[in-house]
Amino acid sequence: MSPDIRTIPAQHVAASRISELDYNNIEFGKIFSDHMLVADYKEGAWQNPQILPYGNMSLSPATSALHYGQSVFEGMKAYRDANGDILLFRPLDNFHRLNMSAERMCMPAITADIFLQGLEQLLRLDAAWVPPTSGCALYIRPFMFATDEFIGVRPSSSYRFTVFTCPVGAYYGQPLKVAIEPHYVRSAEGGAGFAKAAGNYGAALLPARQMQERGYHQLIWTDAREHKYVEESGTMNLVFVIDGKLITPPVSTTILAGITRDSVLQVARDLGYEVEERKVAVEELAEAYKAGKLQEAFGTGTAATIAQIATIHFNGEDMDLPAIEGREISNRVATELDKIKTGQVPDRHNWVHRISL
Ligand code: COI
Repeated sequence: MSPDIRTIPAQHVAASRISELDYNNIEFGKIFSDHMLVADYKEGAWQNPQILPYGNMSLSPATSALHYGQSVFEGMKAYRDANGDILLFRPLDNFHRLNMSAERMCMPAITADIFLQGLEQLLRLDAAWVPPTSGCALYIRPFMFATDEFIGVRPSSSYRFTVFTCPVGAYYGQPLKVAIEPHYVRSAEGGAGFAKAAGNYGAALLPARQMQERGYHQLIWTDAREHKYVEESGTMNLVFVIDGKLITPPVSTTILAGITRDSVLQVARDLGYEVEERKVAVEELAEAYKAGKLQEAFGTGTAATIAQIATIHFNGEDMDLPAIEGREISNRVATELDKIKTGQVPDRHNWVHRISL
């Protein structure tokens, strides 16, 4: 991040709300830090970046994003190290992915100056909100949406980019029961499944709720053509351990290129485990389970980090996987990744961006 970009103007809160925060009891996504970063795109350029007190925005009922879904977002996290510095995990990757999503949704790219320098300034201002507690982090939500006051269907000519943050604990409170989705489709080749576009999440809600009504926390999406290969689970990428090897579907136009997924695979390779990125047929999982070779399954995501899967439902049967405590590979990778994010071990891949206060 370039140190010579001019400072973004900031309007500070009159009184911080931080005293309302109980670090030992943080629910995901409900408590927001004091400030937010805002910039507007008009007449072909990003303008007027500023930091404001976190608060409501006033929008026209005709705001184009509300009707036609030009809206993309990111999820990233910051941690605190033993010296109290803030460690941002892979912010450049989130920056690039946001712009990839924006391109797919016919939206302009946000500039590195606004995204990265704005974020650094925002985090310095709200540093007290980065939880010192193990297992917690500051979740960062950058997003961009179309703001034309116009209900004809066309790409908007104006956009708003915003970043707000919230201290968070675990996204899932327990190991997950998931079920293979045999009917609904999240994404098809040529679609926008790889983009972090708001509509992808909205369209997933009904199938997920139906699975929840059947007693499962989440579903496992399968490919749109045949429902034969696994894709993602809810808001996470998927990794299986079969016969000592980590196996995960390759990223494609239908699967989000998860930054946690990539980090997990890299750390696993660094620890000497074999990793295969290839199509995973549901039948392969069922056969591995029957043969006692499906040892571990977990989801990866920024919010979820590594979410253990206890049970996979397929074809009328619950496949109950081995106990979480005995899962050597995912537990080891999760611990190592956590140490990297919090500065306890060397950062050999240059993933961590340190903000010294
Ligand atoms: C993330 O992991 O950051 C996500 O995007 C999931 C979110 C929808 C809660």
